[in-house]
Amino acid sequence: MNLQGRHFLKLLDYSREEILYLLDLAADLKEKKKKGIAVDVLRGRNVALIFEKTSTRTRCAFEVAAHDLGMGTTYLDPSGSQIGKKESIADTARVLGRMYEGIEYRGFGQEIVEELAKYAGVPVWNGLTDDFHPTQMLADMLTIRECLSRLSGIRLVYMGDARFNMGNSYMVVCAKLGMHFTACAPEKYFPDSALVKTCRELAGQSGGTISLTSDPTQAAAGADVICTDVWVSMGEPDAVWEERIRDLSPYQVNRHIMELAGERAIFLHCLPAFHDLKTKIGSEMGARFGITEMEVTDEVFESAQSVVFQEAENRMHTIKAVMAATLGAKV
Ligand code: CP
Ligand code: NVA
Repeated sequence: MNLQGRHFLKLLDYSREEILYLLDLAADLKEKKKKGIAVDVLRGRNVALIFEKTSTRTRCAFEVAAHDLGMGTTYLDPSGSQIGKKESIADTARVLGRMYEGIEYRGFGQEIVEELAKYAGVPVWNGLTDDFHPTQMLADMLTIRECLSRLSGIRLVYMGDARFNMGNSYMVVCAKLGMHFTACAPEKYFPDSALVKTCRELAGQSGGTISLTSDPTQAAAGADVICTDVWVSMGEPDAVWEERIRDLSPYQVNRHIMELAGERAIFLHCLPAFHDLKTKIGSEMGARFGITEMEVTDEVFESAQSVVFQEAENRMHTIKAVMAATLGAKV
């Protein structure tokens, strides 16, 4: 498998075999890290990390992974560069492409990261757009495989706003890997119908299925993996909170949902999560709407079925695999 020079913009661009190769490479890199075996084979290279939205996991994962591979990093924060304000994406891409061997981009529309890739001349990695979060998918798939020993045939249910980056990305990765994906949400939060059609075609080839339902009881029964995400994503206006809480409260992942799935099911969340009032926004929403938790209850979040911190750790190993493979590292 040779992925050298490839961009990593969305999993629609990758075959099943390529995705599984990246997961195997990530598992190998994880084992090496645990054993203290250095893999700093990309010494002397540098990568730029552009964040037009905030981040904890993705930024730290890229920085630690790059440093483990021997590379230098430059972090461009949401306010600290010229991008978009004084300089176009195409110009930025052509500048950074002359200084760095790879560029990570987190921001808004998918077309921005695609444009960056078109002009950069070096691999570009999508660290989250409104439409897709592909590095998160690799971490989630590695976590599922570690916990349940397989991917093909797994029944994965995503509860919540299924039109945005996480819902879209789960649907794509399940379609590619022969998994059974269910989006469980009110109809207006179902993924875009063109993407559903594409994913149904892919699932037809892989042995997977794509289902959309508004019935949480039916969706959760017998699921292997229950996933959710915040109800209001980065970049969305404050004004949508009230409507989201009203619309999505019936889709909260709580004890009842996990009991329907069964005791062997696992719970995933890309994080950050609203499972208590210990954050600024959590306490604000608590005061405004009289709630103590949102997309997942604290009970489920803290339960043995929740593998969210293993999932968070796997961001680093999988992002390392993406950079190593696309930069042609001999690991
Ligand atoms: N899951 C995820 O992308 O987290 P951050 O926003 O902290 O990077
Ligand atoms: N849907 C969330 C994911 C955060 C990792 C957002 O875009 O804010």
